[in-house]
This record gives sequence, C-alpha cells and structure tokens, in this order.
Amino acid sequence: MSTLALLLLFYLVQLQLDVLAMPSSSDYDFRYMKSVYNAIDLPLKEEYDYIIVGGGTAGCSLAATLSAKYSVLVLERGNVPTAYPQVLSANGALSNLIQEDDGKTPAQRFRSEDGVANARGRILGGSSMINIGVYSRAEDEFYRDSGIPWDKDLVLKAYQWVEETIVFQYNLSVWQSIAKQALLEAGVVPDNGFNLNHIVGTKATGSIFDEKGRRHGAVELLNRGELKNLKVAVEATVKRIIFSNNLTSKDSSLTAIGVIYTDSKGRTHHAFVRNKGEVILSAGAIGSPQLLLLSGVGPVPQLSSLQIPVVHQNPYVGKFMADNPRNDVNIVSPFTLDPSVGQVVGITSEFNYIETLSYSLPFSFPMPFGLFPNTVSPLNFSLANIAVAIQGPLSSGSLRLASSSEVRVSPIVRFNYFDNPIDLARCVKGVRKVGDVLKTKALEPFKTTDLQGRKSFKFLGPSLPNNQSDDSAMERFCRESVTTFWHYHGGCLVGKVVDADLRVMGINGLRVVDGSIFNRSPGTNPQATVMMLGR
Ligand SMILES: Cc1cc2nc3c(=O)[nH]c(=O)nc-3n(C[C@H](O)[C@H](O)[C@H](O)COP(=O)(O)OP(=O)(O)OC[C@H]3O[C@@H](n4cnc5c(N)ncnc54)[C@H](O)[C@@H]3O)c2cc1C
Ligand SMILES: *[C@@H]1O[C@H](CO)[C@@H](O)[C@H](O)[C@H]1NC(C)=O
Ligand SMILES: *[C@@H]1O[C@H](CO)[C@@H](O)[C@H](O)[C@H]1NC(C)=O
Ligand SMILES: *[C@@H]1O[C@H](CO)[C@@H](O)[C@H](O)[C@H]1NC(C)=O
Ligand SMILES: *[C@@H]1O[C@H](CO)[C@@H](O)[C@H](O)[C@H]1NC(C)=O
Repeated sequence: MSTLALLLLFYLVQLQLDVLAMPSSSDYDFRYMKSVYNAIDLPLKEEYDYIIVGGGTAGCSLAATLSAKYSVLVLERGNVPTAYPQVLSANGALSNLIQEDDGKTPAQRFRSEDGVANARGRILGGSSMINIGVYSRAEDEFYRDSGIPWDKDLVLKAYQWVEETIVFQYNLSVWQSIAKQALLEAGVVPDNGFNLNHIVGTKATGSIFDEKGRRHGAVELLNRGELKNLKVAVEATVKRIIFSNNLTSKDSSLTAIGVIYTDSKGRTHHAFVRNKGEVILSAGAIGSPQLLLLSGVGPVPQLSSLQIPVVHQNPYVGKFMADNPRNDVNIVSPFTLDPSVGQVVGITSEFNYIETLSYSLPFSFPMPFGLFPNTVSPLNFSLANIAVAIQGPLSSGSLRLASSSEVRVSPIVRFNYFDNPIDLARCVKGVRKVGDVLKTKALEPFKTTDLQGRKSFKFLGPSLPNNQSDDSAMERFCRESVTTFWHYHGGCLVGKVVDADLRVMGINGLRVVDGSIFNRSPGTNPQATVMMLGR
C-alpha cells in the first residue's frame, strides 16, 4: 500500500472512531441535583478550597474537575434547568430568545451599542442551556495564537471527556441533509462525513441535543465530579470579590480571599477560600470583566469616574470584546419542514463558515400578512435559515459598567462588527457563497412560482443583493443585516488581564476560566472549547 493510501485508511478509521464513540440519545442525568442548594439555605459565612463564580459552560466543567480533590463552591445567579422546562428541549431553543426578560428568565437579553440584540445564559449550565447546541472543536491556529501553552494530549482527553458525557450524533433532519447537499453542490468540499474537528469542507457535527431533542448542557458535566465535595448554590448573585493585602508578607501582595453574594431574599453572604485556595471567575465574557470592574480591578479613569475604589489598575479589563457577526436569509418553505437545530457545518478556506436551522414561526410572532401568497398556511409555515459567520473576528470593541453597584444591570458592550476591512471582505465572500448555495439543485424545491410564472424564493427578512459581484452592495448587506452568532468573547484576554495560567495579573488567588480569555472564537462554535478549557 502506498503511504497515501495508508494515510487515507488511517483518516477513514479516525472518522469511523468518532462515529462509533457517539451515541444518538440518552436520558437526562439529574444526579447533580444532590449537590444543588438554593442560596437562601446556605450559611452567611463559610470556607472552601475553591470558589467558582458562575455555574456556566466553563464553570460546570471546571467544578466537576476540581471536586475530584478539593471542596468546591459554585455560585450561580440563575436557577436549575428544571425550573425552566423549555430549556431542556430543542423545540424550546428559540423561544428562550424571544421570551420577555423579567430578570429571572434563563436568557438575559442585552443589546450591544452596535444595535444588535443579544443574549447570555442566566441558569445553571449557563449559555449552554440556551444555545443552539452545535458542537465542534477548535482549529489549530486557535491554540497557536491563544497565548496558552496547551498540552495537546490533555486537550484531546478533555474534549473526549466532554463528548462521552453530553455530545451526540444522530441522523440528519430533512432540512439539514438538504442543506448538506446544497453546501457540497456550492463547492464547500470535501464531504467530511461526521466529524468533530475543524476542517475545510462540509460536515455533520456533534450536538448537545440528542435525537429525541433533549438538551444535555454543561450542567450534566457536574455528574462527572465528586458530588460530595461539590456545593452548587443557585440564585446566588456575586456582587464583588473580597481582597486582602497580606501585610505580613514582605511584598504585601494583593490576594483574593473570597466573594460577597446575595440570595433571592436579598441577604448578603460571605464565602472565603482556605489558605492557598482560589476564587475563579467563570461568569462568561460579559460577567467576568464586569465583576473585575465592580471589584476595583480595571482602567483607572473608568473606575474613578464611577467612584469605585481602585484595587488594582489594569487598562485592558473589558477591552477586546468581539463577536462573530451573523448574516442570514430565511427561506419560507413551500412545505412543512420539521424543526432542526444545527447539525451541518460548511467551513470554507476563506475564513468563513455556514450553518443552518429550520424552524416554524411562533404564533405569537407578529404576522406579516400578504407577504407570502404561495405558502401553506400563513399561520403555520416553516422557515429554513442559512447563516454565514466569519472566523475570528479581527474587529473588536469594549465593555464598560452601566452601574457601579448593581451587578444585575448589564454592562454596556460594543463589538464594532466589520470595523476591520478584512472582516468585511470575509463576510462578502461568505455571503457570495450563500448566493451559490441558493443556486443549487438541492434548494430548487424551495422556490415558489409567482403570478408571472417565475420561480423564486420567498424570504422572510433580508434577501441577498441582486448583483452579487457588486462589492459595495455586498458590503452594505453585511453591515445592514448583521445580527449575532452569540459567540461574543474577550474582556479578560491572556497576556493582557490574565497570564498563560489564567491567573489575573498582579493578584494572587484569582483566575478567570471562560470565554472572556479568548482572543478569537474557537472553531466554528465555541462551546466545545469552553468546556475543554474548564476541564
Ligand atoms: C443563543 C445562543 C446560541 C448559541 N449557539 C451556540 C452553538 O450552537 N454552539 C456553540 O458552540 N456555542 C453557541 N453559543 C455560544 C456558547 O453557548 C457560549 O460561548 C458559551 O456557552 C459561553 O460559556 P461561558 O462559560 O464563557 O459563559 P456562560 O455559559 O454564559 O456562563 C456564565 C455563567 O455565569 C453566571 N453569572 C454571570 N454573572 C454572575 C454573577 N455575578 N454571579 C453569579 N453568577 C453569574 C451566568 O448566569 C452563567 O451561568 C450560543 C450562545 C447563545 C447565547
Ligand atoms: C438513521 O438512519 C439509518 C440509515 O438510514 C436507519 O437505519 C435508522 O433507522 C435511522 N435512525 C433513526 C432513529 O431514524
Ligand atoms: C501572608 O504572608 C505570609 C508570609 O509570606 C504567609 O506565611 C501567610 O500564609 C500569608 N497569608 C495569607 C492569607 O496569604
Ligand atoms: C404546524 O405544523 C406542525 C408540523 O406539521 C404541526 O405539528 C403543528 O401541529 C401545526 N400547528 C398548527 C397550529 O397547525
Ligand atoms: C454588477 O456589479 C459589477 C461590479 O460592480 C458591475 O461590473 C456589473 O455591471 C454589475 N452588473 C449588473 C447587471 O448591474
């Protein structure tokens, strides 16, 4: 056999192993509930080896890992998933984002200064409990540029630990397999079958939903921990970090020794770490920089103007906030399509990628009557969504506090989508690729015939520019139709706010472990890498 054939065989066996390792469904695993308490039932003062702020995507993975050897307290402002049944099923995935935010709902909504509506998790399991479920590992360049000296073996083991617990492979839905065909026809090749790795071409990837539509978010990673060492407090809102200047020490170094949090009755609790223990922020890309700022760690001008005493100055806290822009079209399907969350990913060689969804419009949605003469019933139609995102991105903005005392108030965030011309060029190429996808045979059945006998798509919302060779029309489309892929990250970058071991620079006993440390969004979708990082 030639070397090439051997390599090919090896590659095929690899693909096959990925497939074999992945179940298609599994029951919910609520064992972690044994370790969950409402904060009102916790003492006003206690001590642990580690305190993790935020029981989110990274936080749950990290808590399970540390609990093998240490006592761990997780403080999560939201409630348990069973308190919000819609988060547990794929059918509820989009309703989380439409739901009115009453301060207790599992998705805290915010609007960036860019004018784009966005959301973040406020629930045990974090944003992994309100997301679309796509699971895909990071690209090699992510590790190379991350500022962290990764141990590749540990990285792989950590991904596998996550995957054997909450990641599934099941048959593609009707829409997802049509979309896969269309991507291949449009030249997003090769067909990489089912694959969790980041490789150019079209692939089916993993999901934290199983084939029955059950969500297995990061919360189920808690089950892999030593539950007797783990205490998870829900409805525990951390207000700030407690610091001590160790005056007995020669260098009088600044040390984080605990946190202050409030319960749902408004009572204040103090949790401390034992000697050599640590406070670890896993409050997400919005929550972690916000907590550092509220605790007096950040740029002096901002802290001073808000009358927050400066504990440690660092101009970079809250800087380099970035988000993958989303540009999409929604095709009104002439026939009923089963709803589907993302299973198929098209990765081009031009630093952009395409993902798809199918969904029915919720009845409560304002109905644009008259727009869709050829659809089934205007009260119940299916939509096929094709979205493009750019990798990275290179553009970034910043975050600053809107309130100097109330952690429940979302900070002000700006992502500056397409500020960098390279991002804009990548978007133009990606949108052109969506144009190619729309020209495929695979999508022909989605066209309807108008009164003049012309066949065309009916779109809900924006359609692509008519002249897709016209760069300025395409650039305008990118800017004007931009929404979010919800992959915002940054705010506590490695080398700027934390060191390569994720310790907050200049402070002992304090780390940040979540998406806020990333200088780019890993792979096509970040959650795989966020959970790997926690592990
Ligand atoms: C709608 C949506 C769809 C998405 N789709 C996908 C997808 O399909 N695939 C994918 O890979 N990624 C997806 N993402 C992105 C992905 O889910 C996030 O990048 C990832 O979950 C972030 O993890 P994290 O640990 O950094 O933060 P989070 O998971 O958000 O965790 C932060 C936690 O900290 C808690 N917290 C914050 N402040 C405090 C405080 N002061 N006190 C106590 N607790 C606090 C929060 O309640 C939350 O639970 C999506 C995100 C959203 C919002
Ligand atoms: C998935 O597809 C395979 C092959 O077509 C089929 O045998 C199997 O029954 C399908 N499983 C489900 C759950 O639909
Ligand atoms: C303070 O510093 C001294 C001397 O370095 C050390 O022995 C002691 O453990 C430190 N205390 C804390 C709370 O870190
Ligand atoms: C809408 O269509 C779906 C899929 O066929 C069906 O399950 C649902 O019952 C329909 N709803 C209404 C109100 O007709
Ligand atoms: C489309 O745009 C290109 C580039 O601007 C231009 O050369 C071409 O004439 C346009 N085509 C049409 C039909 O307008």
